[in-house]
Amino acid sequence: MNAHTAIRTPDAAPAPALADKPDVHAMVQHETVLSPRFYTTDFAALDAIDVSPVREEWDAMIAEMVSDPNKLHFKREVRFEGIIEQLEPALRAEFIDFLVSSLTSEFSGCILYAEMARRTKNPDMKQLFKLLARDESRHAGFINEALKDAGIGIDLGFLTKAKKYHYFKPKFIFYSVYLSEKIGYARYIAIYRQLAAHPELRFHPIFQWFESWCNDEFRHGEAFALLLRADPKLLTGLNKLWVRFFLLAVYATMYVRDHARPVFHRALGLDPTEYDYRVFTICTQISRQVFPLELDTDDPRFRRSMDRLLAASQRIEAGKRRGGIAGTLQRVGGMIGAGLHFARMYLLRPRRNELPAKVRLQPAW
Ligand SMILES: [Fe+2]
Ligand SMILES: [Fe+2]
Repeated sequence: MNAHTAIRTPDAAPAPALADKPDVHAMVQHETVLSPRFYTTDFAALDAIDVSPVREEWDAMIAEMVSDPNKLHFKREVRFEGIIEQLEPALRAEFIDFLVSSLTSEFSGCILYAEMARRTKNPDMKQLFKLLARDESRHAGFINEALKDAGIGIDLGFLTKAKKYHYFKPKFIFYSVYLSEKIGYARYIAIYRQLAAHPELRFHPIFQWFESWCNDEFRHGEAFALLLRADPKLLTGLNKLWVRFFLLAVYATMYVRDHARPVFHRALGLDPTEYDYRVFTICTQISRQVFPLELDTDDPRFRRSMDRLLAASQRIEAGKRRGGIAGTLQRVGGMIGAGLHFARMYLLRPRRNELPAKVRLQPAW
């Protein structure tokens, strides 16, 4: 199964009317530093990967994926028609932005994994990436169904062709995808727990799917944890600087992106700053299974720089909207500020972490 067979393009079902219908195709096409990206890699390098140092844990993880615990989870009996349409306009816009950005992330994983499965000759890699593509295809398809119920489904064939593909070496794919799977788990479970405690805030039924859904993301992250642990040089020497970089890049991107959706978070009863630091804490705890270091996100200097980076990125956006020479100056000033505050956080000393003998974890958050 791959992305192209598993996901249907928008069908001809009559769509309910949505005033001020957003152009979701323009939204997914619009590429910024913060938008989810599509990746490509050196597929031949996957052939040389050897999972024998973690074989026992690997086989147990694959067996769990083959058993497909979420096979029936994404089959829905109810349609979500009329729900997005009834939200007040500011919440509707931010919720659609959240769905479109989540769909793009899920689908970018699907495309990358399907391509990895297709191109590699390594049987372990082929099996793993087929299983991962199966799950991401379901996830992307499910979000798209929710959008289609509001008449704004995305043509995934179009998305495949319209997005730019960024080349990353396999090791960089592993660092960043490991983190995006684990942070995906942490994000979904934090929202799910919040709404379990405050069901009156659940403004769309899709949130009820998040618990089992995020267990898929957790399992996907486990696969990349094992791949990284199978090759110790990826986690030692100069590569530790890359680990630090990816941790910070993923956290900073999430912080800036989430703060652009204040109404959405308010509706869920969440403060974006508290929510993001909760997610960072979960992600830091999980990533002790694989990373020899962790960022101290509770350090007041880290938090101060993160807020300044956010302010700088808001200046970049304001400059873009303003245009002209003044806008360009504002944008350039913002870019310098963002780079400076990113570097400040990067240079804070991380905490060292002793890697556990056993890699795998259970999703217990
Ligand atoms: Fe997913
Ligand atoms: Fe995933």
